[in-house]
Amino acid sequence: MELEQTLARDAEIALSKDRFSHVQGVVETAEQLASLHGVDRVSARLAAWLHDLAREWPEAKLEMEAEKIDVPKGFGAIPTLLHGPVAAHLGRTVYDIGDADILHAVTYHTTGSLGMGMLDKVLFLADTIEPGRRFPEVTAIRELSQVSLDDAMLLALDSSLKYLLAVKKQIFPLTVMVRNEYLEKVQKA
Ligand SMILES: [Fe+2]
Ligand SMILES: [Fe+2]
Repeated sequence: MELEQTLARDAEIALSKDRFSHVQGVVETAEQLASLHGVDRVSARLAAWLHDLAREWPEAKLEMEAEKIDVPKGFGAIPTLLHGPVAAHLGRTVYDIGDADILHAVTYHTTGSLGMGMLDKVLFLADTIEPGRRFPEVTAIRELSQVSLDDAMLLALDSSLKYLLAVKKQIFPLTVMVRNEYLEKVQKA
């Protein structure tokens, strides 16, 4: 079986119906953004199929798996964040994906990272704006993503931080740093 088909099948097995349709939406959106902005479409699709593969694992299982790998600093403080690095680890070990850009995009798809590459931004944004997403700024982020990935990133990060404040959820410090980086980028442009 082709790698993409295998990943799609395994995502369907691992995920609830709703989350699987989220992932299908991310695949479509990532491919569209990739072709528009000159990013490799196959990489975008593979990263999208992989990104939430461990999203529904129980916290204890995520934490156990994370112990075997090099998790980015601080991720352990908010266990859900581990689903990115753990999915990247599955990509490397189970699916033999050696492409560092794909693994990086998957690792940081929830938090963002400093100096994000094109594929990082494509996956982060596709995850935020896939057709099933509903939140106040989503239409504006969708429109911006067709023009400028950086402008779309700033609005996506601002909107995510606002949401986390509103629902009293923890904010990961790296995400604030990433947001500041885009603020500077967009203001300079
Ligand atoms: Fe995720
Ligand atoms: Fe996702």
